Amino acid sequence: MHCDILISHILYDNANASLRCNSARKCFSFSTSQFYFLNISNTDIMSVYKHFETLQVHAGRKADPATGACATPLYQTASFQFHNMDHAARLFSLEEEGFIYSRLSNPTVNVLEERISALEGCTAAVAVSSGQAAHFLTFQNLALPGDNFVAFPSLYGGTYTLFRDRFSDLGITFRFVPGKNPKEAESLIDDRTRGLFVETIANSDYHVPDFDHLAEICRKHRIPLIVDNTFGGGGYLFRPAGHGAAVVTHSATKWIGGHGNSIAGILAEAGTFDWDNERFPRFRENCPAYHGLNFLKAFGEKAFCAKARALGLRDWGCCLSPFNALLILQGIETLSLRMQRAMDNAMELARWLESQKKVSQVSYPGLKMHPSYPNVQKYFKNGAGAVLSFTLKGDRSTTAQFVERLQLITHLTNVGDNKTLIAHPASTTHGQMTDRELETAGIGSGTLRLAAGIEHIEDLKADLQQSLRSCP
Ligand SMILES: Cc1ncc(COP(=O)(O)O)c(C=O)c1O
Repeated sequence: MHCDILISHILYDNANASLRCNSARKCFSFSTSQFYFLNISNTDIMSVYKHFETLQVHAGRKADPATGACATPLYQTASFQFHNMDHAARLFSLEEEGFIYSRLSNPTVNVLEERISALEGCTAAVAVSSGQAAHFLTFQNLALPGDNFVAFPSLYGGTYTLFRDRFSDLGITFRFVPGKNPKEAESLIDDRTRGLFVETIANSDYHVPDFDHLAEICRKHRIPLIVDNTFGGGGYLFRPAGHGAAVVTHSATKWIGGHGNSIAGILAEAGTFDWDNERFPRFRENCPAYHGLNFLKAFGEKAFCAKARALGLRDWGCCLSPFNALLILQGIETLSLRMQRAMDNAMELARWLESQKKVSQVSYPGLKMHPSYPNVQKYFKNGAGAVLSFTLKGDRSTTAQFVERLQLITHLTNVGDNKTLIAHPASTTHGQMTDRELETAGIGSGTLRLAAGIEHIEDLKADLQQSLRSCP
């Protein structure tokens, strides 16, 4: 099976593009399962039952057409068999619904995409192999060598090095904003800028940006606001698309999956950005790889995801395994319950740690003293995220001793697990940064990052307490 042949047949040729596009759009209204390749959302459910708690269980779900199985089946297959040559031809020409090759789309993965799209209030989503892959595909989908992005520097360490090192190898640069002020970000935008990037709650110093202000700047300069909503819990805590974000990314490894068992990523599209814009020539020119397909004309409010799938997934190959999609889907069904509980635990632990004599500093955006507290009040209804940092009085050996004596809280680098986790960012997740970069990202040499899980709060306090007792 050659996927380049597949795609070129699935998509449009010059002469028939608008005709087929119209027929595809017509088909969307007849069957929500008709065009898996295009990731059409389950609009029936979304339009009637809109609450997050309902969507997290139902959106994108369909009884298995072969068996009626209610739980989403695992379609662990590379390819999908044709009935005969005519059938294959009809699939390729989009005259009939169906799947062809799992690098592009897969029924199990497709349910995950539809569900996240619904939870994030987006028009489409593409699931990929990791959060890193989601960022790679997103920025590569927007930029050409010589282009740049503007980003706030307090970020997950892996995102920072992807931006600083890997993208610069490809001739795409990231301009890091020196402070937190949106105006400083605006001053870095020029005619080669292709987007402004922030994390909902920054995975270093928990900075929560003023999304509405940033969206206004992006509208003014006609660039997309791109938000990594990993800490926003798949739209439970915060929906960036409702505040002007054009593209929303996720490490689904974290709260979306929630059980620390699979690596996965998602990119989703709000459907509101006008790609008919001289900054994004690839969206409005006819794509030679697809016989002159014009992504903008053919896919409209899903153009970003269609291009990310048809060119990005096809050529870079960073697809999500169906098995991992199934595990993530299982996690999503309880997302709101887990996220709320973890955030409540984080709030309680932040207050408790503040009261401990051996703790010198606590950073959590739910605390009034945190610089982002006003934005937390403005944008979040249910909490302030599930991650906090704290620093102990004493030197590195005190910190090491404390971490190593913890019994319940697990020492590893991850967040968004049901289990409470602790890590030392300066030597792990953010270990590739210079001292100056660490300082800008709000990470000290003794900072510990704690990602609250869903255990009983008294057990978490007891574990911290017993380990604190051992510190001088
Ligand atoms: C905020 C954020 N974005 C992206 C990533 C990268 O995701 P993944 O580890 O799934 O590649 C991480 C990982 O910790 C993260 O914390």
